[in-house]
Amino acid sequence: MKRRSFLAATGAALLAPRVSFASSTVLSAGPVVAQILPEGDGTTATWGLNGSTPGPALRLAQGERAEITFENGLMQPSALHWHGIRLENAMDGVPGLTQDAVPPGGRFDYSFVPPDAGTYWYHSHNRSWEQVARGIYGPLIVEETTPPDVDHDVIVMVDDWRLSETGEQLGGYDDLHDRAHAGRMGNYARALVDPAVQLRQGERVRLRLINVATDRVFPVQIDGIKGRIVALDGMPLPAPAPIGDILLAPAQRIDIIADVTGAEQLGFVFPTRDGPYDLGAIPVSGVRSGPARGDIAALPGNPGHSLDLEAASEVPLRMEGGAMGGRHSGSDVWAFNGVSDLLEAPLRRFERGETARFRLVNDTRWAHGIHLHGHHFHELGPDGAPGALRDTTLVEPGASIEIAAVMDNPGKWLLHCHMLGHQAAGMRTWVEVA
Ligand code: C2O
Ligand code: CU
Repeated sequence: MKRRSFLAATGAALLAPRVSFASSTVLSAGPVVAQILPEGDGTTATWGLNGSTPGPALRLAQGERAEITFENGLMQPSALHWHGIRLENAMDGVPGLTQDAVPPGGRFDYSFVPPDAGTYWYHSHNRSWEQVARGIYGPLIVEETTPPDVDHDVIVMVDDWRLSETGEQLGGYDDLHDRAHAGRMGNYARALVDPAVQLRQGERVRLRLINVATDRVFPVQIDGIKGRIVALDGMPLPAPAPIGDILLAPAQRIDIIADVTGAEQLGFVFPTRDGPYDLGAIPVSGVRSGPARGDIAALPGNPGHSLDLEAASEVPLRMEGGAMGGRHSGSDVWAFNGVSDLLEAPLRRFERGETARFRLVNDTRWAHGIHLHGHHFHELGPDGAPGALRDTTLVEPGASIEIAAVMDNPGKWLLHCHMLGHQAAGMRTWVEVA
């Protein structure tokens, strides 16, 4: 990413994600004008929900039904997907697989019970490479029944945009060259935080990082905190882990609980080849008084993920294609096991409750973030031991990894690369659970 003159100014002019706590909500997609560049550098005419991009932060209660009406005020058909939520198949929001796309002017009533607490997000799943790039997404938080003891619960969405000097979206959503490489990258990046958040030194914060970019893998450094990672892709770690180097593939989330050590700010930095790129900061002023806090404990676990690795069915999934990958161009530039896009028949049918062991092999020169709908999976270590539970896993060029999931959610589930340009160009398939 090239630093441009206006890139240096950060911290000001953060978008104001609205917060809504209702379990019955309307999300209305339509054109919005957003202040993505710093104030004074021009506004961006784009798309959003309920008048803003990102859309409102939805906070749902674990185990309680949420009713969300989607109204499509866009000029394109659309649908909303509740990323990472293990919900009923008919509510998954995938046009062509679980529902018809909602036409312009149409609406769709979503209704589901989120079984797992954690950090999720919602986004368009129709022409997602364009609609997500334009801003049809928002955070989806499922609250624990007993939330951890923190002073602030802060959502941090990292995104990039391709903008002119004065803030116009530069388009190129369907660019085939981008799709055959790493995807469509923005030239301007930010960490989006509610500008009302004010921290004091010594306070304990929960940070919910979400990578909402269509294609960019974000390394992120956070300055001014000392703490632990407590969850990945919404799912609590059995034991909090050191923060280390944070890397977020598109759609991945990381929850951190930490104490504020910075005296002036908590800063988000994107280390690039050209040096550190400032994504934004949360201001810190004053010092918290009161007794020191205890250790950072693990979050309460979510229900049911007992793998039966002995009896697991093996599913090879080889990623192929891309520039110099020897495949065709257009919509089949990428493939799984030689097949681009969805066939009539699923890649595999599972009995309900069966453990599946996917062997992901990245036989390309590009990284891919592979996402399974309707389920979380364990990343298996080199010794085959189950590691973290995730819904999206990053597979570096030439690398392979095994993931295992209990396929216990009946229906038709997409399995795709979350680099949305890769998905558009064929890197997607589906599986079925009886
Ligand atoms: Cu985040 Cu198929 O989606
Ligand atoms: Cu990909």
